[in-house]
Amino acid sequence: MKKFVIAGAFAVSLLGMVGSMAVAADDPIKVREELMEGIGDAMKVLGPTAQGKMEYDAAKVTAALQTIATNSADFPNHFPEGSDAGKTEALPAIWENKADFDARSQKLAKDAEAAIAVSSNGLDAFKPAFGEVASNCKGCHEKYRKPS
Ligand code: HEC
Repeated sequence: MKKFVIAGAFAVSLLGMVGSMAVAADDPIKVREELMEGIGDAMKVLGPTAQGKMEYDAAKVTAALQTIATNSADFPNHFPEGSDAGKTEALPAIWENKADFDARSQKLAKDAEAAIAVSSNGLDAFKPAFGEVASNCKGCHEKYRKPS
């Protein structure tokens, strides 16, 4: 009987662990930070490429732009009510201007798609399209992200 109780308690604590892991994976703050990190990593390929410091590799450029397009389109889906609290750099202004915030995310996705459309045409075609993509970051961070 005693053995049974101990095993039961162990099973319950295991269940508790699984439960909290599931919550962490669904944590909207984590998800949106990872989406932005992916965008940041993509820029580490695209920025030096635009500056001629990295050889122009159309496949790499396209993949990086695709990450930006996908991640920025999904980004505004991870700001449920209440997720302004906690360990986040997201400012309350996001929830006060959600339509503007969504539009900025979609514009970044659209500019990345436009850059993909010319990415097989080489560096000179890529440069101005990349400029459009990069022009989205600062304005949104200034308005909606805590300065770090
Ligand atoms: C629509 C607004 C918006 C745009 C456009 C945007 N960002 Fe962000 N970014 C944010 C917000 C908001 C956060 C903070 C998210 C949080 O902490 O919950 C953030 C955070 C980040 C982070 C930190 C992620 C982390 O681990 O905490 C990086 C890196 C980043 N952005 C890079 C970029 C780059 C590069 C671009 C341009 C290609 C860009 N962002 C465009 C809103 C934006």
